[in-house]
Amino acid sequence: MCGIVGYIGNKPIKEILIDGLRELEYRGYDSAGIAVLQNHQFSLFKAIGKLINLEEKTKNFETTGFSVGIGHTRWATHGKPTELNAHPHVGENSCVVHNGIIENYQELKNMLIQQGVKFLSQTDTEVIVHLFEYHLRTAATPFDAFTQTLKKLKGSYAILLVSASADETIFFAKNGSPMILGRNGEGETLFGSSDAALIGKCHEVIYLEDGQYGVATAQTIALYDQFNHAVELRFIPLSENKLSAQKEGFRFFMEKEVYEQSRVISDTLMGRLGDERIYFEELDATLFEGINEIKLCACGTSYHAAMVASYLFERHSKIRTSVEIASEFRYREPFLTHDTLFVVISQSGETADTLESLKMAKKAGLKTLVICNVDNSSMVRLADASILTRAGIEKGVASTKAFATQVSVLWMLSLMLAGMRKTLETTEIKRQIHLLRTLPATVKVDEALHEQLRRLSKRYLNGHGFFFIGRDVFFPLALEGALKLKEISYLHAEGYPSGEMKHGPIALADPGLYTIALLPQHKLYDKTKSNVEELSARDSTICSISPLDFNKADDHIRTKLSEDYMVEFFEMMVVLQLFSMEIAIRLGNDIDMPRNLAKSVTVE
Ligand code: G6P
Repeated sequence: MCGIVGYIGNKPIKEILIDGLRELEYRGYDSAGIAVLQNHQFSLFKAIGKLINLEEKTKNFETTGFSVGIGHTRWATHGKPTELNAHPHVGENSCVVHNGIIENYQELKNMLIQQGVKFLSQTDTEVIVHLFEYHLRTAATPFDAFTQTLKKLKGSYAILLVSASADETIFFAKNGSPMILGRNGEGETLFGSSDAALIGKCHEVIYLEDGQYGVATAQTIALYDQFNHAVELRFIPLSENKLSAQKEGFRFFMEKEVYEQSRVISDTLMGRLGDERIYFEELDATLFEGINEIKLCACGTSYHAAMVASYLFERHSKIRTSVEIASEFRYREPFLTHDTLFVVISQSGETADTLESLKMAKKAGLKTLVICNVDNSSMVRLADASILTRAGIEKGVASTKAFATQVSVLWMLSLMLAGMRKTLETTEIKRQIHLLRTLPATVKVDEALHEQLRRLSKRYLNGHGFFFIGRDVFFPLALEGALKLKEISYLHAEGYPSGEMKHGPIALADPGLYTIALLPQHKLYDKTKSNVEELSARDSTICSISPLDFNKADDHIRTKLSEDYMVEFFEMMVVLQLFSMEIAIRLGNDIDMPRNLAKSVTVE
C-alpha cells in the first residue's frame, strides 16, 4: 500500500527519496512521485507504474547543498492510478503526501471550490494542501495553518507537508497510518511510513503515535499530541541490518522467503521450547486469568493461520475458540464478553480492519494479544500483550514465511495453554515439542521436489479453475494454497473442505477442473481419499499431495513419511507455495508485486 518518505539535509536528495521509496516498493503501488524544495523553488516529478519510470523522469535532476523533499508511492483508492492523481499534490506554493483516507474530503473540497480553489486530481489527499493554503492566508504562522488544517480532517492519515512559506521545514502528522521520524547526528531529519525506508540512513527513530503532529527542520523537531501539548522526544535506536532486505541470488523475494522458512522457524522457536513446556517470556500469566474463550481475528493469510489455530486451541487446550474475518467483525455488532481473550494476527501489524477490530475489543474491555511480525507496529503498541513471529522483513506480497511462523507460534501457544489448563498429558506436550523441533528440517526445501513442481506446473495453466481440498487443519491450508495461487497466477482457485465438495462444487468437475488434494497420512486419510475419489470418478484432473500412494490421481506429489499430521501440514505448505510460484512464473507474472495487491492494506 502507499509509502511515504521525507528528507531534510545536505545530501543529494533525489537519491535519498527514491532509495527510500524503493524500500517500500514491496508494499505495492501503482504510481510514485517526489517534490523537492530548494531556494524557494519546488521541483515536482510524478510517474505512473514502477519507480524506474520516476527515475527516468528525474535523470537530469540534480541538487547540491541543502534541500527539503517528500516522496510517495501510491496505491489508488480515490481516483485512478494516473499522474495527476499521484502524490505529491500541489497547491500554489506547497506540496503534500498522504497515506490513509480523508473521510470528509468531499465536504472540504466543496467548501474550497466555493472559495475559488481549483482541484487537479480526484484524490481525497489534494484537499489537505489547499486547506493548508487557505488557512495560511489568515494564520499567524505556517505551523498554525497546518494545525488548523489538521483540526478539520476526519479519517486516517500520515501526512508530510512542505511549503515555500516555511522553507527549511517539513510539517508532519499521524493518525491511524504509520509514520516514523528519524535523525542521524549529521544534521539530517528523515521520515518514513515504515522503518524499512530509514534503515542505513539514520540511527535513531521515533514511532509517532496517533494524534501526534509537529514541525521539523534539520536541527530541530517539535512534537505535539492530540491535545496540543508538547511531547518529549524519545528516540530509540534503529537496527542497521539491511541484509534481509536483499534477494540473495533468488529469482524473487517470494522464492527467497520460502527457502528462508527453515531459518526463520528456528528463530521463532528459539528460547520458547522447554523440555516439557512452552515459554513465552513476553506473556504475563495474568493475561489468561478468567479467560474461557479465545476469539481470533485477522485478514488474508493471517486469517488462515487463525483458522488453523482454532483447531489446535480446541483440540489441545480445550478452550472455546472462534475465528473472525476482521472486516466482518467490525460491523456485525459482535457480542463480546470479558472472559474472552481477543487475539489478532497480522504480519504487518498495520492492516486497517484488524487494527480497528483490536481497538473495538480494547474499548469493550477485553484482554488483547497480537501475534505480529513487526515490532513497534500499531497493533503491537496497542495490544495488552504481543508475541513476535520473528520472520524478518517479508517483501513478497504473497505471504509465505510470515504464515509459517504464525502457525508455529499458534501451535506453541496451544501447547502452553494446554500445560496451564492441564488438558494434555505431559508426555503428549513433550511429544509435540519434539515435533516442533523438527520443523526447521521439515520445511527445508528439497531441490528435487522443487524441480518436480517446476516441471509439473506446465500442466496446470489452462483449466477453468482449481479446487484445493483438505480436512481439519488441511482445510485452512487448502484455503491458503488457493489464495497463494490466486494472488500471483491470477487463475481462479478456491479452497474447500473435502467433505463439502459433494454439496455443490462437484458440479464443476470435468477434466478442466484441477483438484489439488491434500491427503495427509495422519489426519482423516480415508475420509479425504473417498472425497478425492468422488472427484476423480467425475473426471476432474487430480493432483494429490501425500506421503502415501494414490492411484486415482493424474499427478502425485510425494511428501515424506512423518510421525504427525502437523509435520505433514508444514511440508505440504511448502509444496503449495512453490507450486503456485512455478505456475505464476510460467504465466510471466510479477511474482513479488502482483497486480492490484498491496502488502500492507492500511485502508478498509
Ligand atoms: C494483504 C496482503 C496479504 C495479507 C493481508 C493481511 O492483503 O496482501 O498477504 O495476508 O493483507 O495482512 P497482515 O499484515 O495483517 O497479516
